[in-house]
Amino acid sequence: MKLIKLDAIDSTNIYVKELIAKGDIKNYTAIISKYQTSGRGRNNNIWLDEPSKNLNFTLYKEFNTFKIENKFLLNIISSISVFNLLKKYNLKNHSIKWPNDIMSGNKKISGILIENNIRGKLINYSVMGIGINVNQLNFKNLPKATSLHIETGVTNSPELMAEELQQILKLNFELMQENPDKLLDDYNKFLFEKDKTVNYLTNNKILLGRLIKVNKLGEILIRNNDGVIEKFNVDEIKLIY
Ligand code: BTN
Repeated sequence: MKLIKLDAIDSTNIYVKELIAKGDIKNYTAIISKYQTSGRGRNNNIWLDEPSKNLNFTLYKEFNTFKIENKFLLNIISSISVFNLLKKYNLKNHSIKWPNDIMSGNKKISGILIENNIRGKLINYSVMGIGINVNQLNFKNLPKATSLHIETGVTNSPELMAEELQQILKLNFELMQENPDKLLDDYNKFLFEKDKTVNYLTNNKILLGRLIKVNKLGEILIRNNDGVIEKFNVDEIKLIY
C-alpha cells in the first residue's frame, strides 16, 4: 500500500481526485499532508488546522460491486477505524457521533469527509478524507474541539498514525466482506449519547428523545416522549449538545 507524504497542499481529498483524473492511483493508496491551505469539511465547512500538528489523511478505495444502498458502511468503516486507532493511542472516553465524527468526551477530535463516485447503482470509488487533531493545543474560537495531546498529555507522530490508520482501514474493508453486521454492531456500541435522552433539532423544532440506534441505512432511531420511535436521515436532524 502506498502512502504519499506531502508538506503542503490545498486539500488531500482534492489531491486524490487529481490523481484519479490522471489515472495515477491504486486501490488503498493514502495521502497525508502536514498542512492544508484549503481543508474541507462536511456540509461545505472549512477544516482548519495548525501546520505540522495534525493528521490530514485521505484514502482512495475502489470497488467492483458496492451497491449505493450500502453506502453508510463507508461511514461505519471509517469511524470505527479512527475509533480503534485512537484507542491504541490510549484515548479513553471516546465515541462515534452520528454520522461520523469522533468525540472525546463532549469534544470533537476527528472529522471525516467521504466523497463517493457513483456509476448507475454502484459506488465506483470513494475518497475518504480523515482529519485527526493530534498535537494541536489551541483551538481558537472552537470551544468544542480537542486533540489527542490535550486528552492524553502525549505528543505523537501523525506519520506513524497514518501508517497504522491505513492498515486498520484495510482490515476493516476485509471484515466488511465477511461480516458487515459486526461493523454495524460495533458502530452502535461506540455511539455518542446512545440510550441517553437529549435534545435534537429537526424541522426547526426541538425534539427531546432517546437515541436507540443507527440502522444499516444510516438512519438514526429516536424514541420520542410519547414512546414512539422516529427515524431520521442525516440532513433531517441535528443533535444539540
Ligand atoms: C468534518 O468534520 O466536517 C470533516 C472534516 C474532514 C477533514 C479531512 S482532513 C483530510 C481531508 N482533506 C480535506 O480537505 N478534508 C479531509
